[in-house]
Amino acid sequence: MNQTMERVAVITGGSLGIGEAISTQLLNLGWKVHILARRASSYIHADHEGCRTHDVDVRDLDAVKHSADAVASSCERVDALVLCAGVGYPTPLSSASRAQYDELFDTNVAGAIFSTQVFTPLLRDGQAVVTFVSSIAGRRGFADWSLYCASKHALEGFAASMRDELRPRRIRVTSVQPGSVDTPSYDHLRSEEKKEFMDPESIAELTVAAIQLPPQACVETLFVNNAVGDL
Ligand SMILES: NC(=O)c1ccc[n+]([C@@H]2O[C@H](COP(=O)([O-])OP(=O)(O)OC[C@H]3O[C@@H](n4cnc5c(N)ncnc54)[C@H](OP(=O)(O)O)[C@@H]3O)[C@@H](O)[C@H]2O)c1
Repeated sequence: MNQTMERVAVITGGSLGIGEAISTQLLNLGWKVHILARRASSYIHADHEGCRTHDVDVRDLDAVKHSADAVASSCERVDALVLCAGVGYPTPLSSASRAQYDELFDTNVAGAIFSTQVFTPLLRDGQAVVTFVSSIAGRRGFADWSLYCASKHALEGFAASMRDELRPRRIRVTSVQPGSVDTPSYDHLRSEEKKEFMDPESIAELTVAAIQLPPQACVETLFVNNAVGDL
């Protein structure tokens, strides 16, 4: 790739937590960053000249398509697509509800699948990286978290299939599988309960390093576990 070529990233869920850290690190490296989230415009660096925000719910396919049109009209190609929008909470089987299932699967699975479908035509052949922010919960099960784990296992199946499907275009696919990370999704926990959690910047650093590798190298799975403790 021409070194002076503009590098463009699209990041769903790029406004908070792990996604926010990825957005910020890419902006600091000179990338143009498009953030999709329901409240994307509240992203802390929304006024950065390289940043464009799109207030969309990834469960609304028409809204995602509309934002893709806006991205397409503002750049030549997309170099990194990061599917990070997600929700997670415990759902003990005895009280798990259809509404929880719908929220978890519509956001974590359908949201990622159809955002990928919409943005894939914009990706730069021979260069681009698609990153799914999955979870350790996409590798194993956790008591009381079955619906979240099921959604992340489904996402893993989709990511693995995309890796095969996009290979002819030399587009690489990475699945990032963090353990527990201290993000706003865990604001309800006391600091004592989160003392072994990782910080989102560490996950972002590894994710961005994988995105920036030369096009011959593909980090297929980035499993970053907590040194101590569990989900
Ligand atoms: N924190 C952890 O321990 C951990 C561990 C492993 C994996 N993960 C995964 O990492 C990803 C990010 O998690 P996080 O902890 O950073 O969460 P977070 O701080 O709550 O951030 C979630 C992001 O997703 C966006 N989002 C949520 N629902 C959305 C929707 N329907 N449409 C569009 N955007 C939506 C949020 O923005 P809006 O609310 O404005 O829409 C926000 O930008 C998730 O996929 C999560 O499963 C997290």
